[in-house]
Amino acid sequence: MTGVTYSGYLRLGELLATVRPMTRAGNRRVYAAEHFFIVAHQTTELWLKQVLLDVDCALGAASAPDRDLEQAALGVQRAAAVMRLLTEHVGVLRRLAPRDFADFRGGFGQASGADSEQFARLRLLLGAEVSEEREGPESPLYTELAAAAAEWGTSLDTVYRRAPHSGALYRLAESLVELSQAYWAWQVTHVEVVSGAIGRARGTGGTSGVDYLADRLTTPFPEIWRARRCLHEPTLVPELG
Ligand code: HEM
Repeated sequence: MTGVTYSGYLRLGELLATVRPMTRAGNRRVYAAEHFFIVAHQTTELWLKQVLLDVDCALGAASAPDRDLEQAALGVQRAAAVMRLLTEHVGVLRRLAPRDFADFRGGFGQASGADSEQFARLRLLLGAEVSEEREGPESPLYTELAAAAAEWGTSLDTVYRRAPHSGALYRLAESLVELSQAYWAWQVTHVEVVSGAIGRARGTGGTSGVDYLADRLTTPFPEIWRARRCLHEPTLVPELG
């Protein structure tokens, strides 16, 4: 007997106590709607913590002197699976009625998902930081993939042309494609949810809302997408290795 209990191990007391709507509990309809809104955000942030951990571990494996790309691919695949799940987490907010949302939205002032530090870290890891002025820095995941390919005397174009016989390089590249698509799907679902919830109204973070978000839609790892595209348009390939 270890004396460890289910709720103790999971710290459920603390965890469940963190869901605290600002609406008075007596106002059942709005209280339940705000509770729903908070849970969707909090669970997303919890899962994001896992995504960042898995991506960090993958990066560590890929950049180690022995470059364990197989381990890195497994980590990225898990991060991609969780990112897919997060599409459902944001999508469930289609069930937030605009009237209920309007009744508690004023309470959180200028707070906005745009302030999420974990999402900001994720964008950096994916090389997905976009702004009108400049491209963001390259994804460190892609940097390691490209370095490994160069060290092993090949290129991404060749990896894709020889697939599925390109081993760990191919598996890591494809896991990044999964992550790229899951991230894209999250953004698209988020825009849809935002347009359902607030239409063309401005965001609490001060942006134009839907138009701003639509402009920021991005598919991470453009170099890998390019190598895949070369299979359809071989004239894009600089040299055949
Ligand atoms: C009814 C639901 C939601 C609405 C109406 C909404 C609205 C918005 C709006 C209007 C923005 C643009 C910034 C601003 O002006 O505030 C934004 C950004 C953002 N929201 Fe949401 N959001 C919702 C749900 C969520 C959820 C569940 C998450 C997950 C934590 C989330 C995460 C984000 C992130 C990460 C950004 C920044 C996106 C970027 O910079 O490209 N949002 N949201």
